[in-house]
Formats: sequence, C-alpha cells, structure tokens
Amino acid sequence: MTNPLKVALIGANGQLGSDIAKHFADCDRYQFTPLNRADIDIRQEESVHQVLTSQKFDVVINSAAYVRVDDCEQEVETAFAVNAFGALHIARACREIDALCVYISTDYVFRGDRPSPYTESDLADPVNIYGASKFTGENLVRQTTPRSLILRISSVFGKAGASGKGGNFIETIIKKAKAGDPLKVVNDMFMSPTYTYDAARLLDALLQSGTTGIVHGANAGSCSWYEFATQALELAHISHPIASIPASAFPTKATRPMNSALVSDRLESITTFKMRPWQEALTAYLEEKSYR
Ligand SMILES: NC(=O)c1ccc[n+]([C@@H]2O[C@H](COP(=O)([O-])OP(=O)(O)OC[C@H]3O[C@@H](n4cnc5c(N)ncnc54)[C@H](OP(=O)(O)O)[C@@H]3O)[C@@H](O)[C@H]2O)c1
Repeated sequence: MTNPLKVALIGANGQLGSDIAKHFADCDRYQFTPLNRADIDIRQEESVHQVLTSQKFDVVINSAAYVRVDDCEQEVETAFAVNAFGALHIARACREIDALCVYISTDYVFRGDRPSPYTESDLADPVNIYGASKFTGENLVRQTTPRSLILRISSVFGKAGASGKGGNFIETIIKKAKAGDPLKVVNDMFMSPTYTYDAARLLDALLQSGTTGIVHGANAGSCSWYEFATQALELAHISHPIASIPASAFPTKATRPMNSALVSDRLESITTFKMRPWQEALTAYLEEKSYR
C-alpha cells in the first residue's frame, strides 16, 4: 500500500472548505490537515511559510477567499491581499516544499458577454474587482510554482453556507418564501451552479489523476438565477410566486458577467468522475438539508 498523500486545506470552515474537509478526512488515501483562520492568515507571508513548510505537505488546497463581490469594489486592498497575494504566499511555500498548489477560482474571471459557456481555453477578462483579484491570484500561482491546479467553480451552494456571504442563494430564497416575503429574481443572468458536495469529490478525483493546469468544475448545464430559484422552491415543495426581473432592475455596486456558464473541455479525458446536472445536485442539496 502506498503512503497516504499529506494534504492541507486552507479555508476549512468555509462553505466549500467544509465539504472538502468532510470528504478528505474520511479518505484513507489522504493524511488530512484542515486549517482555518485561527491556524493561518494567508495575508501574512511569514505565518503561511511557517505553517506550510514545517510539515512537508504533498498538496495544499487554498479554498480561502474574500468573496463579498460588491464589497470588493470598495475594499480593493483586502480583495487583493486575500485573493491574490494570499495565493502568492501559499504558492511560494508550495514551491519550497514541492507541493501541488491548488487554487479554487471562479467563473467571475470571465467577461460574460457572449451566449456560449466558457471552457478552460477561453481568455479571462474580469469585469469587477473580485474577478480581477481572483484572476491575479490564478496568474500569481501559475507564475510562482511549476505544480499547480486551478479549479474554477461558480454560484456555489453547500450545507455550510458561505461564511463570507452569510448563507447562500438557495437558503435566502427559501427563507424569504417561507416568511411570505415578495421575491424578485434576475432572469437574464446565466451561470452554472456548483454543489460543494460534488466539487469536493471532483477535487479528490483530480488529485488521484495527478491533474495540473486549469479545470472547470461546475455542475453540468446552466440556468438563469430566476430558473435556479424557481426550481429550488418547486423541488422543496414550497408554493410561492417569484417575479422575474431583468438585471438592469437590480443594480449592484459590482458589475457582474451576464453569462458566466462554465463547461469543461478537459474533464472527460482526465477522470471518469462526472459532475452531475445542476438540477440533480440541487435535489441532493435539498434532501441533505431536509427540505424534501
Ligand atoms: N461562493 C461562491 O458563489 C463562489 C463562486 C465561485 C468561486 N468561489 C470560490 O470558492 C472558494 C470557496 O468559497 P466559499 O463560498 O466557500 O467562501 P466562504 O464560505 O466565505 O469561505 C472562505 C473561507 O476563507 C477564509 N478566509 C478568508 N480570509 C482569510 C484569510 N485572510 N486567511 C485565512 N482564511 C481566510 C474564511 O474564514 P473565516 O470564516 O474565518 O472568515 C472562510 O473559511 C473561494 O476561492 C471562492 O473564491 C466561490
């Protein structure tokens, strides 16, 4: 039997991090170390260096981020300190210990002004500070260390809810519907939802196959936010009207891509693991949360 891979996860109590932690802790093939903000602040290079180089990890997964997209427009320094320079600090330590550096990234690196989904070979061109900070993070990782994996996901939903956003979209919709609040959701902005439970298993498959480079790892298919919300209520057997509105009727501080749907040109040739359609993932999530 081969030795288990020594894997560290930064951002272990976040929405995605919680599901990665749960899955990896249960796998014999990994010797797993979850790290949260009390263990490591990725803005501090010395702390990152000390924590990561004191144990010789084979893989370091960076799921930590500053994810409040609208706040990033004002808090540019914080966005770059965490999403870009934090990633650089981790990549430097990974290079030193020859660990694979895994950076979780986003569909928001894309402009989103075309009708077709984005593949790994499409050029990134972010339209907001969050996207710019994440794309810079991707580039710093790729420039700094020869062994990296950039896993792009989008519109994340998971049991833990985003700590940086105080929940997730589905939870907000269900809470408002149950409270009888009026609901208006954008119908002309499209994306590919990602269930953290599935993303954790995809990441496991990617590590097992020794994948490097950029991989798109959202659930299969795409939808508008309106369609996503409508499906969630229908599947949770909650009857409540949702008004469908254009994005222009819901101005936000940060510009958002109109179509940031992701598709992968690579996954089929890398692994037999398949990201299921978003509708199936949403059903599984609602069951996990006992809404069905
Ligand atoms: N949420 C989405 O819709 C979405 C979409 C596409 C891509 N992504 C990407 O997916 C990844 C995970 O996002 P998520 O939804 O799981 O977000 P999340 O729930 O907010 O988790 C982010 C984690 O990062 C930690 N963190 C923040 N600043 C840190 C620092 N300076 N040092 C160490 N840890 C720090 C947070 O710790 P505290 O809880 O202590 O603050 C939290 O555990 C991120 O890379 C994000 O960019 C997310």
